[in-house]
Order: sequence, then C-alpha cells, then structure tokens
Amino acid sequence: MAIVEIKKNIFWVGTIDWNIENFHGYSLARRGTTYNAFLVMDEKITLFDAVPEKFKWDLYHQIFKLIKPEQLDYIVVNHVEMDHSGALPFIVDKCKPEKIFCSTMGEKSLASHFHRKDWPVQVVKDGESIALGKKNVQFLEARMLHWPDTMFSYIPEDKLLISSDAFGQNIASSKLFDDEHDLELLLSEARHYYTNIILPFSGFVQKTLNRVKESGMQIDMIAPDHGVIWRSHVGDIVSAYEEFAAQKVKEKAVLVFDTMWHSSEKMLKALGDAMMEQGIDIRFMSLKKFHHSDVMGEFSDAAALICASPTHNNGMLPLMADFLTYMKGLKPKGRIGATLGSFGWSGEAPKAMAQVMEDSGFDMPLSPLRVKNVPTHDHLSECRKMGIELAGKIKERVSSQSG
Ligand code: FEO
Repeated sequence: MAIVEIKKNIFWVGTIDWNIENFHGYSLARRGTTYNAFLVMDEKITLFDAVPEKFKWDLYHQIFKLIKPEQLDYIVVNHVEMDHSGALPFIVDKCKPEKIFCSTMGEKSLASHFHRKDWPVQVVKDGESIALGKKNVQFLEARMLHWPDTMFSYIPEDKLLISSDAFGQNIASSKLFDDEHDLELLLSEARHYYTNIILPFSGFVQKTLNRVKESGMQIDMIAPDHGVIWRSHVGDIVSAYEEFAAQKVKEKAVLVFDTMWHSSEKMLKALGDAMMEQGIDIRFMSLKKFHHSDVMGEFSDAAALICASPTHNNGMLPLMADFLTYMKGLKPKGRIGATLGSFGWSGEAPKAMAQVMEDSGFDMPLSPLRVKNVPTHDHLSECRKMGIELAGKIKERVSSQSG
C-alpha cells in the first residue's frame, strides 16, 4: 500500500481489507473496506486512529515509511471499536507515545478493552484543542455515532475533519478520494453503510450535524475511517447524511421472503405484482440469496417492508427470524409493514413476523394473511388485493411527509 499525502504534512497510513466478508453481521463481501489512519507530521507527530490487530504490521510499515518508531509523539483514538484500535497495543509498545488522547467515554472503553494501566491516556473534552506545532486539533464529541466514545478531530489550519465511522463507506480501493469514483456509487455505498451501522442513532446524527454547522467549522475535506476521503463532494455527503437521518421514504417497498415449497413466494409475488401495477417501486428479495444487510440497504429509503414465510415448527423459517432480529436492532422509523405466508397445520408464522414488526414500531394496517398449503387463484387474488391496499397506504405515507 502506498502512503498518500491528503493535506500538506498529513498522510493516509491506513490499510485496505480487500477480502473481508462479514463485519459483525454486516456483509462486506461486495466491496471490502479500508481502515483509514492518518499521520500528521508536525512538532508533535500524531497518529489518528489505528487498524485491526491482524493488520498491525501493515500499519507499522506504513507509519515507518515516514518516521522512526520513537518519533511518534501522540496517538488520537477517535473511537475504540477494534477495527480502529486492535493494533494499538502493538503500536504503543513499539513507539511509547508521550500521550494518547481520547474522549471521556473513550478512556473507559480503552480501559475495558485493553486493561493497560501504564498507557499515557489523556482525556479531551468536547470543544477542547491541542497544539501539535503549526497545526492544532479541536475535538468534537460525537456520542453514539456510533459508540458512546466516538469523537471527531478537526484540524482548522487544513479545514480537515477526521470523522471516525461517520461519512464512511465500505469500499476497498486503491483510489482514495471521492473524485476518483462515480459519485452515485459512493453515495449509494454511504447510504448502505449508514443503514447498517448508524441508522439507530439518527437523532444523534441530526444533533451532531447541527453542532458542526453552528460551530462555524470550515471544512473542505472529510476523512472517515472507512472508504474514500471526501474532498470534492463534501457538501453532497453532508446533505446525504441529513437525508439519511431524516429517514424520508419513497414509493418503494421491499418484499422479503423465505420459502419451503414456493407457496409463500407465490403469495408475495402476487402481492408485489399488484403493487407494481400501482406504480410502487419494489424489490423482491429471497433471504437465501440476499444477506440481511443487503436487504436493509435496499430498505433504507423504502416506505414499506412486506415479509413472507411459511410456518415451520410453529414459527417462521430461520432466515426470516435472522433478518427480523437484525432489522429490529436497526430501528427504522415511520415505515409500513405487512406479513403473509402458507402453512400446513398450525400457521403461526405471519402473526409471529407481524409481532416483531409491531414491536419495532411499524404501522401494520392489514391483518397477516395465511393460506393452507398451496394458494389457489382466489388466494392469489387476496394477495393482490392486499398489495393494492398497501400501495395506497405507501402513497399516503409519502405524500404526508412531503406535505
Ligand atoms: Fe469502524 Fe465502529 O468501527
């Protein structure tokens, strides 16, 4: 990997994880990711963030293309999750930095992750600045974006915001900057990332964006800890975050299913066909094919989620239980839901799915629909009727948010 000078005397020294498949339940198999770390060369040479433990030697070699280990003065830990701190013990032992800066919650998190009482940790408060020499660093608490410890680091002399996970995308690439990629693809990946990592904390995102605006910080580069660095489209990614956090939805529905002998699939397909005829943009996604995080990526701007599963051992199929557990944790707001499915003799699945969706705050305007064994033409007509009614509800929802 090449080191890259992103601003004068500020270098990207991160690593690229081309082949990662799964990040605690979030599939990264499509594009991999990067762990961005930055080295500021000033009177106090400072490393911002680290990489996972398994890449500790890569980080070491990156940093020490520029300096000798004993020259590293400071480390800033914007966030303690192990993809940004796993290599810390190794780097700290090799370099023996004078100080390690983190937030109040970061101190607690470092202690409970690494149990190293000998580290020279110094807590920085929200708004506090430190001098590195010619450059200064101002810290901004960004609690729950997406952990309690998260903070941003702002270097005013360079108009640079190092933003931890916020504004990230999971893209492994040798091209480090936004203007070296297709913007639509980047914003789509940023949305996918937001939905799977940051969505539950959308209220905190809105507050943090407002605080950044009110602070008068001038920003012409945002360097997140994953993916590309924003230098030509800073306004686009900030506007996109405002939109993601507002959870505005479109006339779109995600129809997700698992099926044993295709009856539930046929029912959902009939419902989806009717929705399409009403002008709703649908995604018809089998959980055997699509990972739950990719379904959520599609659901991010959809007004409705329709779930179909047959009854299996008095409940829903395991892939649907997995999906709904994941979806519930991400706490999408203001959505419409519905469930349906076939059954052999007991028929609990549609109600069980509906219960999870109700508990997740979905508006469930229609009763769950069940069909014994194989649907007839009349049964499929019932599914179509359900699709038409849901299409009407989706249109109402979208027009109420724009009105
Ligand atoms: Fe990229 Fe929350 O770690």
